Amino acid sequence: MTDKDYNPSLATTDSQIRGQELFSKLCSDCHRLNKDQKDGNEMRGVCDRIPKGDWFKRFVLNSVNLKKSDDPYSLKIDHDFQSDYEHNFKKLSDKDIEDIYNYLRLW
Ligand code: HEC
Repeated sequence: MTDKDYNPSLATTDSQIRGQELFSKLCSDCHRLNKDQKDGNEMRGVCDRIPKGDWFKRFVLNSVNLKKSDDPYSLKIDHDFQSDYEHNFKKLSDKDIEDIYNYLRLW
């Protein structure tokens, strides 16, 4: 197991399986699921700590815009992790985002 490994056997519904595929293609270069948060890339428990509602979607589609709206949580992680990276996955559909979220909820 490397840090980047994730556990495919967790995904069981069609949505989770699709979410897992998208996550492994688009997100797993940076994000690790099986670790608690230290440098912003560990995502275990992520859905419990991020704001509810459409926060996840807005952040993944365009984190710059979200910060510009003075969203406190995105400003906080920006400050905590001091990374220059911005999320800008404009091409993802609502269903793509929902599937990734359903997969992340497993962690
Ligand atoms: C090039 C590296 C990189 C890629 C690719 C990436 N992220 Fe991130 N992500 C980060 C960094 C760095 C942070 C820490 C906060 C920040 O700097 O914006 C972060 C933070 C997050 C957070 C908040 C985590 C928390 O613990 O609060 C979520 C949710 C997230 N990313 C989702 C995604 C999703 C979903 C994808 C794929 C569609 C993705 N990221 C792709 C680097 C990346």
